[in-house]
Amino acid sequence: MTGLLPLPHSETITLAGLGRPLELNADMATTSSQSSLEAELNVLGNRAETEIAQTATLEDLEQLRVAYLGKKGQISKVLGGMGKLSAEERPRLGALANTVKTAVQSQLENRKASLQTAAIEAQLAAETLDVTMPGVYRPQGRVHPINSIIDQLTEIFVGLGYTVASGPEIESDYYNFEALNFLPDHPARDMQDTLYLPNGDLLRTHTSNTQIRYMQDHEPPVRVLATGRCYRRDTVDATHAAVFHQIEFFAVDKGITFTDLRGTIRALIDALFGEIPIRFRPSFFPFTEPSAEVDVEWKGRWLEVLGCGMIDPNVMKAVGYDPEVYTGFAAGLGVERLAMVQHEIDDIRRLYSSDLRFLQQF
Ligand code: DAH
Repeated sequence: MTGLLPLPHSETITLAGLGRPLELNADMATTSSQSSLEAELNVLGNRAETEIAQTATLEDLEQLRVAYLGKKGQISKVLGGMGKLSAEERPRLGALANTVKTAVQSQLENRKASLQTAAIEAQLAAETLDVTMPGVYRPQGRVHPINSIIDQLTEIFVGLGYTVASGPEIESDYYNFEALNFLPDHPARDMQDTLYLPNGDLLRTHTSNTQIRYMQDHEPPVRVLATGRCYRRDTVDATHAAVFHQIEFFAVDKGITFTDLRGTIRALIDALFGEIPIRFRPSFFPFTEPSAEVDVEWKGRWLEVLGCGMIDPNVMKAVGYDPEVYTGFAAGLGVERLAMVQHEIDDIRRLYSSDLRFLQQF
């Protein structure tokens, strides 16, 4: 040190801890010549540009904005020295300060926009869904043909204004036979042998038990549909099963005739199969008089699909309806038979075999 030259007296300014500290010559600030203030502004402008370009987060960018453009920021500080300039010099410095401010301002805005875009892109990249990734395979379920027939018929009858009811599968002799006008030793019982429980109850042989149960509890007019499982001591073959499904429907009101029954059956067969040939064949059921069976033409043969008739006056009496005032019809359909016709199934046993090769066709 010679002592002849003034020691550079440095003041260190740290911009909010960002980037390199900006070193300003304190002599410049205190002697305040116009050219040194101009130089400082230019240095600040350049430094700001570099630091803004290097900022990695929006928070850091905000700190830079405060450090440069804030009330107590770098640019304001330099302008604080303007008081020592002459009146002619001030406008030039003021104009330069504005230029630097505007430049810093727009650099801040540009950087902010690109940081925001980068943040969104990073988020999008992080949340990307790989649609080419193989999923977890779950085999698709299907409606079983038996349930499908029940659903279709329910829809048809609900459309005709029927109410859906149900009855128990374990039934007493009274509801399954006696109230339906089966006399204790009537041979009609032989055709519907079933499994008996020790207390005398039985597994119901048809859904006709629902007629008695429903009519006991409701006054006419009634229009009812009931579906469910039935049981018989039947030898299983291509068209018979020991456990099967029936759909029962019946209506009671003043003035109901056999023609209403015929029309209803024709309407439901049409809705299920289209206009295929059907025939009514006289038959006997203890609970209807007259009675009929209905066959549909299936593979060149007649296949019985339902029994029906006008509700017997004895049944009316058993449920407390006056047969002189009310008439009604009833019918019971074999669901499996209908499914076989609809899908041209050759053997009833396929419906119970749980063979996926068969079931997947529906
Ligand atoms: N229950 C009869 C059976 O299982 C079917 C049947 C016939 C039901 C005539 C009825 C009917 O409601 O009126 O064979």
